[in-house]
Amino acid sequence: MKTFEEAKTRLELLEQSHLLRFWSELSEEEKRTFLAELSQLNVEELQDHCRGATKAAFGQQTSPLDGLHQEMEPVPPEFIGGIKRSDQNTLVDWENEGILQISQNKVAVLLLAGGQGTRLGVPYPKGMYNVGLPSQKTLYHIQAQRIRKVQELAAGKCGSKCTVPWYIMTSEFTLDPTEKFFRENHHFGLEPSNVVMFEQRMIPAVGFDGKLFLQERGKIAMAPDGNGGLYRALLDNLILEDMERRGVEYLHVYCVDNILVKMADPVFIGFCVRKGADCGAKVVEKAYPEEPVGVVCRVGGVFQVVEYSEILPETAKLRGPAGELVYSAGNICNHFFTRDFLRSVTQQFQGDLKQHVALKKVPYLDEDGNLVKPSKPNGIKMEKYVFDVFQFSKKFVVFEVLREEEFSPLKNADGAALDTPTTARRSLLAQHYHWALAAGATFLDHQGAPIPLKPRTVQDDEPPAVCEISPLVSYFGEGLDHLLKDKAITCPFILDEVAAEKLKN
Ligand code: UD1
Repeated sequence: MKTFEEAKTRLELLEQSHLLRFWSELSEEEKRTFLAELSQLNVEELQDHCRGATKAAFGQQTSPLDGLHQEMEPVPPEFIGGIKRSDQNTLVDWENEGILQISQNKVAVLLLAGGQGTRLGVPYPKGMYNVGLPSQKTLYHIQAQRIRKVQELAAGKCGSKCTVPWYIMTSEFTLDPTEKFFRENHHFGLEPSNVVMFEQRMIPAVGFDGKLFLQERGKIAMAPDGNGGLYRALLDNLILEDMERRGVEYLHVYCVDNILVKMADPVFIGFCVRKGADCGAKVVEKAYPEEPVGVVCRVGGVFQVVEYSEILPETAKLRGPAGELVYSAGNICNHFFTRDFLRSVTQQFQGDLKQHVALKKVPYLDEDGNLVKPSKPNGIKMEKYVFDVFQFSKKFVVFEVLREEEFSPLKNADGAALDTPTTARRSLLAQHYHWALAAGATFLDHQGAPIPLKPRTVQDDEPPAVCEISPLVSYFGEGLDHLLKDKAITCPFILDEVAAEKLKN
């Protein structure tokens, strides 16, 4: 669609000519931009997309998800490893394996950061969010420092300098601000060439009548194609080639909002490598039936995640003999893939990934050019999910970790009951408080009075003493004994590299 005439003819054929309703009001510049946007739409794909979206949305309304649920079964125990399920020696063994792989430059991390963060409601990418830690670090800052530390740990143990490249999938909404933020913060001390940002595709939202929406007079309402858009984006941006060039064989994929995420987690990587897995998922025990996490399970004998939006409430509530949830393997969006597996997915299967239907409130321009913000869903968004490739795995494994150590997502704004900036901040500070206690520290308030100990209980409890430990000092609680043993710490306290130096003396 290079000219107006061409666009008009094509869009008429597709019954989408309303998109040109405001053409005559656009400036020359706006016309050029709009034509460029229209020319990127693949006509056949678009037609299929609109038909598919309306059909799927209709199907979702008329036929419940019973079929799926009859075929679901929990993950058999032999496919699950985990922190509570293994002895200390085995865990150390896996960790050493992971560290070894990292030291050989074979491990990278990939962040899924193309989402719009609608629930949190901030006008910038979620990774830039500051949850109010004493250090005021953002999620990106914490993640970058964990990468630096794990590189240092691997180099220290194996005697060779190493790199964990950081791939960041963004979208039209998040690429520019993310790039700018990293530049302004000097990539948080990482080598810029080892931080690789790329963009996923956008797809149009579709009305229940199969028509696309105008978001502005010269712009179609589009949204990222879901975090399963990763596989198309890997192809579009030659990311697997980049990994190959660097010698990366294993990838830890994770979502942006978990403040406790263990970047390139050596234990998880080591576990997957030792099991000979091509694909793996980290899970936590689901807390309650309605918790908004997907469950890892098998459907018709094939590994899959059934998303929280797609599970029947009665299935989610099923309990076993001891009262435990039958579907308890809660997906925390931390996945392991080998590069070879990703190659086979991108080459053979990425076009076959399931399209999930979400009914959304899509703001649009009405016939008079006024922006309408609907109060109930008026459109369909089709999304692919990152975990829908599990079915193609030849050897799939699940690794269960402790919620209080590894999962506290930031999904909602403060005021919501769960997964808010407050709960994220508390989780991190509670973890650091217990690391410090385990290392032998005691805490004093600002008047020098001892702060009574508090045992570890619920994840989101406010710790009695505020002690934030920089990831540059400790990646996951290690190396604190020689700094904190028998030390009385006045709170609030930030244990960063400078404070660590002082404590050594
Ligand atoms: C996700 C998981 C869910 C899991 C939960 C744990 C998926 C599809 N769902 O749900 O099973 O229990 O996390 O917290 O993975 N993103 C993109 N591009 C997009 C859309 C999203 O990169 O087009 C990214 C987001 O930026 C985020 C991640 O994917 O980092 C997860 O997206 P989000 O919408 O937060 O997923 P949830 O619904 O919370």
